[in-house]
Amino acid sequence: MSNKFYITTPIYYVNAGPHLGHTYTTVAADVLARAHRLLGDKTFFLTGTDEHGAKIQEIAEKAGLPPKEFTDGIAGQFKEAWQDLHISNDRFIRTTEEPHMSAVSKALQYMYEKGDIYKGSYEGLYCKGCEQFKSENDLVDGLCADHKTKPEIMEEESYMFKLSAYADKLQDLIERDEIRILPASRKNEILSFYKNEGLKDISFSRKNVAWGIPVPWDRSHTIYVWADAFLNYLTGIGWNGVPDSVPEFWPADVQLMSKDILRVHATIWPAMLLSLGLPLPKTLFVHGFFLIDGQKMSKSIGNVISPDQLVKRYGVDATKYLLMSATPFGNDGDVSWKQFDDKYNADLANGLGNLVQRVATLIENNLNDGLAYKAALVSGENSFFEYQEFNTFIGQFELHQALAHIWTRIGAANAYVNEHKPWVSAKENPETFLKTMTVLTAMVHHIVWLLQPFMPDTTKKIFEIFGDAGAKYIKDDYRFKVKKNDTGLFPRLES
Ligand code: MSP
Repeated sequence: MSNKFYITTPIYYVNAGPHLGHTYTTVAADVLARAHRLLGDKTFFLTGTDEHGAKIQEIAEKAGLPPKEFTDGIAGQFKEAWQDLHISNDRFIRTTEEPHMSAVSKALQYMYEKGDIYKGSYEGLYCKGCEQFKSENDLVDGLCADHKTKPEIMEEESYMFKLSAYADKLQDLIERDEIRILPASRKNEILSFYKNEGLKDISFSRKNVAWGIPVPWDRSHTIYVWADAFLNYLTGIGWNGVPDSVPEFWPADVQLMSKDILRVHATIWPAMLLSLGLPLPKTLFVHGFFLIDGQKMSKSIGNVISPDQLVKRYGVDATKYLLMSATPFGNDGDVSWKQFDDKYNADLANGLGNLVQRVATLIENNLNDGLAYKAALVSGENSFFEYQEFNTFIGQFELHQALAHIWTRIGAANAYVNEHKPWVSAKENPETFLKTMTVLTAMVHHIVWLLQPFMPDTTKKIFEIFGDAGAKYIKDDYRFKVKKNDTGLFPRLES
């Protein structure tokens, strides 16, 4: 049966170009989208850029550029980075696109007429880095915990969204997993926020920020950047702002993000959906935060790693592997160039690359007509081919475990070569040699099949090396005729 699968990443701010943190989320979404496509699900994968608001307005001014020109440049960098990484997003949405802006405007008009938005005033703290309102409890030594800056005091006339009206309903929906928040620790964190702090009405418009979508009934205000940004998840799949026209792919099956923006995604966003009478996302999956050599990535420290630096050093697929295997999906991670280099050499050059090279060379050097596959010869190795566990890991977003499952098999296949010494049987016992090579070919095929969502270019290359069309099941007498790649898949890195 084919299901629908709709996955989103946050839309990234265009105050600076993409870095390893954005890349991590985007690659994870790509892996999940590809895995669901392989399962035959009707899949839609959305990413994009968040381009309005005070922060972007200010940085464009500093750069001496009109905001649209500035955002065009950085949005281009994000697009290019994802193209260079062969990310399979079905759409890249920018909040400065006209259809998005007009849908946002219609949606807010609807909420206003319904009485969920009213004229009031906002007085309180605001962190421009987060584009979020802060309470004293959010601060550490008077500073924003994420940005380490002092929030500004805001006091202005504002159109307010009746967030408080939805608090009880949302708390109940989250408790009952109607919106599932994963990992469970994040769900608990959000529920304690509901219990301890509750939800207050929130300012949904700004009078002093020109770079935004005008409030349709009062054009002296612009729409709060998060209200604008959230609706990308709907406009990106063709929503026109009319509540009762629900796009085919809605609701989202998974919305990925890191912990920095979970709270807004578990409060303001579903409250807006309730106000619009639209279904809620099924799952919010929250992954951890990456540090580099123990420190937060920041321009001033100068430790920001960009995706193109990774691709230059490791190549596209190895970059994806290194990110996805760096830390259990959901946990924080600390990464370093040294750790990436070591893992590249151990797992890719010595592990996967070596296995493919050895098996291909043995076939090429000893079997002129290639290897004619016989399933009966493989029957003794059933546990190797078990993949329910792998599917479970993917279903539970345990991407790191799914990779570990594959790498255990790479290790086992390499051990099988060492144990059976096919270079000896090639000379002394052709029958044994054929059996060993048939088992190894099946093992490589199985590994490659599972690895496809994570390393799509590499797996395609390996299928080509073995003259294999990439079929899910190999039939008897299928001939593996090797066309080896002499440089190897993953040349060793010298430090
Ligand atoms: N524009 C908002 C999101 C709006 S969604 C309606 C935003 N943008 S952001 O550019 O700051 O991106 C935040 C997201 O980028 C995080 O939630 C996470 O997905 C990713 N990461 C950014 N830095 C990160 C790390 N250091 N580590 C892991 N991922 C992080 O918030």
